[in-house]
Amino acid sequence: MKIIELIKSRRTIKKFRSELVDENLVKTWLDAAAMAPNHRMTEPWEIIFIGPETRGKLNHKTNFGNAPTLLAVLSRHGATKVETEENFAATACFIQNFNLAAWSEGVGTFWSSIGITGQNRALLSVPDHYDLLGVLAIGYPEMIPEPKPRTPIDNKLKFLP
Ligand SMILES: Cc1cc2nc3c(=O)[nH]c(=O)nc-3n(C[C@H](O)[C@H](O)[C@H](O)COP(=O)(O)O)c2cc1C
Repeated sequence: MKIIELIKSRRTIKKFRSELVDENLVKTWLDAAAMAPNHRMTEPWEIIFIGPETRGKLNHKTNFGNAPTLLAVLSRHGATKVETEENFAATACFIQNFNLAAWSEGVGTFWSSIGITGQNRALLSVPDHYDLLGVLAIGYPEMIPEPKPRTPIDNKLKFLP
């Protein structure tokens, strides 16, 4: 699949089949995701595989669409506010790389910011010097939704002289 097709066909998946996703495959996608751009090579991302006991304590009304795999993605703070923001941006690139790598092999993801509440930070033992970008629910899609239309890109463009 061409990269543009891959990007345009990706959807946030909210209902998953129960079939397990091979952990080695997930690690392959994480490894690819780590090629994300990151200023000063800080590689600020950290990934937590959330096991069933911890998952049971997380507060999410849909149980993450019954996804068989759940990861939390953290981003380390930098020495300054700017470095922390750069790290945050790099970790977002990491997540989207991961989403696309998984999607290229028929596996869907749901990036949920549910995890960023204080209560869930504590449940996931997120250290104070890390941002929690969210929880990624991962699995084979039960249902692939229609695309959500985007504003024509021309409406978002400005040209400076
Ligand atoms: C940082 C971030 C947090 C998100 N958190 C949630 C969430 O808590 N609940 C939710 O339903 N969708 C969440 N989403 C998914 C968006 O709702 C979804 O990307 C958007 O509706 C567009 O759909 P699409 O990804 O299928 O194109 C999140 C996406 C991002 C990037």
